[in-house]
Amino acid sequence: MLYFRAAIAIIAPFILLTLKSLIRKRRENPAGLPLPPGPPRLPIVGNLFGVKDLGRQWLTYADWSKKYGDLLYVEIFGQKLLVLNSEKVAEELLDKRSQNYSDRPQVPMVTLMGWEFNVGFLQYGPSWRKHRKAMHQALNLQAMLNYRHIQLNSVRQLVRNILQVPDEMEAHIRTQVLCHLTLVYGYKMEPRNDLFASIADRASDMLANSFFPGAALVNAFPVFQYLPEWCPGAGFKKYAQQCRKLTRKLRDLPYEYVQKQMAEGIAPHSVVSEMLEHNEEEVVIKSVAGTTYAAAVETSSSALSAFMMAMIIFPSVQEKAQAEIDRITGGSRLPDFSDRDDMVYMEATYREVLRWSQVTPLGVPHFTTNSDIYNGYFIPKGEPSRVTTTIYANIKLILPFGQT
Ligand code: HEM
Repeated sequence: MLYFRAAIAIIAPFILLTLKSLIRKRRENPAGLPLPPGPPRLPIVGNLFGVKDLGRQWLTYADWSKKYGDLLYVEIFGQKLLVLNSEKVAEELLDKRSQNYSDRPQVPMVTLMGWEFNVGFLQYGPSWRKHRKAMHQALNLQAMLNYRHIQLNSVRQLVRNILQVPDEMEAHIRTQVLCHLTLVYGYKMEPRNDLFASIADRASDMLANSFFPGAALVNAFPVFQYLPEWCPGAGFKKYAQQCRKLTRKLRDLPYEYVQKQMAEGIAPHSVVSEMLEHNEEEVVIKSVAGTTYAAAVETSSSALSAFMMAMIIFPSVQEKAQAEIDRITGGSRLPDFSDRDDMVYMEATYREVLRWSQVTPLGVPHFTTNSDIYNGYFIPKGEPSRVTTTIYANIKLILPFGQT
């Protein structure tokens, strides 16, 4: 009986989805225009088996683009993906038609895991605008001048740590980027096993494992989120619940820490203390702070690691960069922000590293507000409650000759 109920629970959503999708296709695309080109798909799994490495899908998309062009249509477990494989198409759609292409897909696992507060996942609209405005006020170029001492101190500590224990480069980089905790919350982390840092780390790892196409069936078939927990295949619910506890803590604990410090009159200046002083809404402060912290740590540590790797692989570049630093500082002091304008080679080097080793090879997925036609192809509109097209810019391919 249990298996029968489970089978019904699994099969019924498929039948329902197929029927709904047939009716919808006819309504949304009456002219019957074709979808953009892509490799042939198998039923249900789509192109899943054609993707060589799910964790590095951009490599396969780059291969397919040679045959199918720079606007590529792919399906993985019912998740429909439009991959933009050239700068021209990315600019045409994401930039020139940005009114229509700035929405974000509502990935079921993101919501189930409590990550939906992240500004990078908010739907385009009034709430997104409110968060972006608050974010801009807190983090614009002028506002960031207040935090330069934090950045400088942590970078100098990084240099000292590398000198003392060079073999633990990765751990040192990790510690350095956690200076964002100080910047956002005025919080000085513990050197080891810091509670806030470990919460953010675990929640971010869980998100990374559940977000990419093909990572979780429920992302392709949102209706699965209504499966009861006892149902075989519903293990993702338990996983999501564990993460939800972490994301709640990620938003609440550091925020409460700042509130307490402010009540005691000992809070250092931080992004959150400033927003509290400006009476920003609590929900907005928590989201902006949590997003800033979570978005900054992973990206910055990857970029910094790539920089170190580039310096090792290309010693001649390292020599030129060092020569420039020595020329400007006289070899007797560490450089600081005031030297930046004179460090032309250094500036170009770190920018080149960002191009050479992209931190976000497929960017952050976009979604269309209305269906669209491009070069005679039909691009369906995105609707959060349905399985519709998610758009990825293949930054990896657009910025060529990088490391894989
Ligand atoms: C090397 C460092 C970084 C890289 C490569 C990077 C890359 C990106 C990319 C590709 C996007 C998607 C843009 C789009 O969809 O159009 C994005 C969005 C975003 N990033 Fe970063 N990022 C970095 C650092 C940061 C930092 C330090 C913060 C926080 C202070 C941050 C906060 C955000 C936010 C909030 C969004 C979403 C914006 C929105 O949807 O309105 N990022 N980032």
